Order: sequence, then structure tokens, then C-alpha cells
Amino acid sequence: GKGEYDHFMLKEIHEQPTSLAQAIEGRIDPENGRIALDGFEPGAFEEIESVQLIACGTSYHAALYGSLALNQAGVESTALLANEYSVAAPPVDEDTLVIAVTQSGETADTLNALRQAKSEGADTLTVTNVVGSTAAREADDALFIRAGPEIGVAATKTFSSQAVMLTLLAQRIADDAAGEPAADLEALLPDLATMPEQIEGILTDSDAEWIASRYQDSRSYFFIGRGLGYPVALEGALKFKEITYEHAEGFASGELKHGPLALVTPETPVFAIFTGEEDEKTLKNAEEAQTRGAPVVAVCPEDHRAVEVADAHLEIPETDPDLAGLLANVQLQLVSYYAADLLDRPIDKPRNLAKSVTVE
Ligand code: F6R
Repeated sequence: GKGEYDHFMLKEIHEQPTSLAQAIEGRIDPENGRIALDGFEPGAFEEIESVQLIACGTSYHAALYGSLALNQAGVESTALLANEYSVAAPPVDEDTLVIAVTQSGETADTLNALRQAKSEGADTLTVTNVVGSTAAREADDALFIRAGPEIGVAATKTFSSQAVMLTLLAQRIADDAAGEPAADLEALLPDLATMPEQIEGILTDSDAEWIASRYQDSRSYFFIGRGLGYPVALEGALKFKEITYEHAEGFASGELKHGPLALVTPETPVFAIFTGEEDEKTLKNAEEAQTRGAPVVAVCPEDHRAVEVADAHLEIPETDPDLAGLLANVQLQLVSYYAADLLDRPIDKPRNLAKSVTVE
């Protein structure tokens, strides 16, 4: 049941400290500074030359997060929409790892892309929440995110766990490909270990409800981020439109000036995500929107320069840039939830949507 919560979505947002601890458990070893994945011996990924991640919807945003983390770790990788894969898949061979990212393991588009990649000779792996799902049975290997069942149609805790699982996997692939510890995990591993606590802190003391009510009469909601903040901006917008039925869009911060700025008015709040990846540029992009009258809500640490510039802010604790976007995402989940609640939407079952999409 929902227990003390009004909706499964809110319950699942609040489960993230636990579900993330479960995703990480036994997989990081801060003592020797390495990543251990059940079923994958050291060097298991050494032959891999490039990685394609395939997924839909929120899982695509997690896949993009993982792909950017791989690129940042020096591994060639692309995230692809599974429903586009059959018409325009990049070539694969036996040194290509194709990762199907799917919470349910039953999404038809993703299964089709997985089958296609497999038949063309790629090595396949699925990152999924459901043991015994079709994806888990059909892919060569599976990594389970261990998030527990998710009832709300809008994916929340499974997104965080997918992104964390892919962050770990990215570092492992980079290490194996280099044949030695390549990734700099000294900073990342302790921050990963404290992330569940940090999320607990956000959940017990967030201004998201107040922010949702302050901007509830807006015309459209924009989310911007750079680097790993970009998939989080896309996810922030998808969650917002899914459950509030209001218009929302996510953009790469630097793209705002290439077109979307034409839409910016005092009625379009801009949520700007700061991950520590060229934040000064993102701040400039946010200020360009502010100059056109848009209120800017900075999602960043308390002592960040963006706090002085922005009209409002949502605080996240200091952490590694590999993880900061996931803390920001929790604040954005809460904003969407409270915005939808103010509008009295059926949060757990938005109109026209299903939890598992088994048609093409
Ligand atoms: C959005 C949402 C969907 C799913 C998508 C893929 O909140 O839940 O966008 O992410 O339908 O589903 P899975 O991960 O089961 O393949």
C-alpha cells in the first residue's frame, strides 16, 4: 500500500535512499577503490570498443546519462531511442556492447532493438528492474537495479537507480578497456556511498512544494542543464508534463539561445540545473532567459554563485559532478509531484499512459 503517503509516486520518491543503497550494495569497494559487478570478472569488458545504449522515455534519459558518463570516462558511446533503432541503427560488431535500459524489461520498442542488435552480432546486456523479464532472458547478460516494485506510472526511483547502475558500469568498462584502473574513483566512491543520506536530507527539507505553488500559474516550464545535467533537464520536463498536463521542455543549456529563447517570457520559469560542469556557462544561459523576464530557479548547492543571481533556488548538497544531477533530479521530482497535486491530477495514473508499453 501507499502507507503514510497520498500517492505511490510520493512514496517511491521517498524510497530512493533505500533503493539507491540497494543498487550500490556490494558493487563498490571504497577500500580498494574499484567497482565489482556480480557475474563480471575483472577484465570482462576489455574487448569492448564502443557502447550503444537503447531505451525509451525516462529510461532513455538514464541511458543518455550513462552514455555521457562513458564518453567522459573515455569510452566511445551513444544513447539511442529504441523506437528509432530499426530505421537508423549505427553499425555494430562483436566489439560493440549494446545495453538495453528498461525498468520493466517488457517495452516492445526496446526488445525489438535488443533483438536486432543481437542478430547483427553485438554483445548485449540489459539494465533492468525485473528479474525474469523478457529483456533479462534475451540479453546475453543482465544487471539488476534492485529498486523494488514501482507502482506509479511515472518512473522515479527506477530512473535514479538506472542512472547510478550505469555510472558504475561506465567506470568499470573504462577500467577494463584500459586494462588498468583508468577511472579516477577516489572522489566518486565516497560520494556514492553518502548519496542515500544526501537524498534523505533533500526529502526532509525541500522547498519544492513552495516553488510549485509560486509558479503554478505559468504558461510553460523549461528545464536546462549541461553535461550530465542535460539528461536530468529532459527528465525534469518529461515528469512535469506527464503528471501535470502542463507544457514543459528540457534543453541543453547552450541550446536555449539557438531557438527556444523565442518562447521565453515572464510566464515561463526556467529551472537551471548546476552539476559543476561548466556552471558559469549555464549561469550565463539562465541569465539570458532572466533578461527576457523569465524567473530562474537554480538547482544547486547553497553557496553556489547561481543562488545570488536566481529568483529562487532548490538546494542540493555538494557532491561529485557524476552524481550532482541525480540529487537535482530528486528536487525536480518533488516539484512535479506538488505541481500536479495542486492541480488535483490523478498522479499515479496519468491519462493516456500505461506503466509498460508493449506495442510498437
Ligand atoms: C515515464 C516512463 C516511461 C518509461 C518508458 C520505458 O515516467 O515511465 O517513459 O520510462 O515507457 O519503460 P521501461 O523502462 O519499462 O522500458
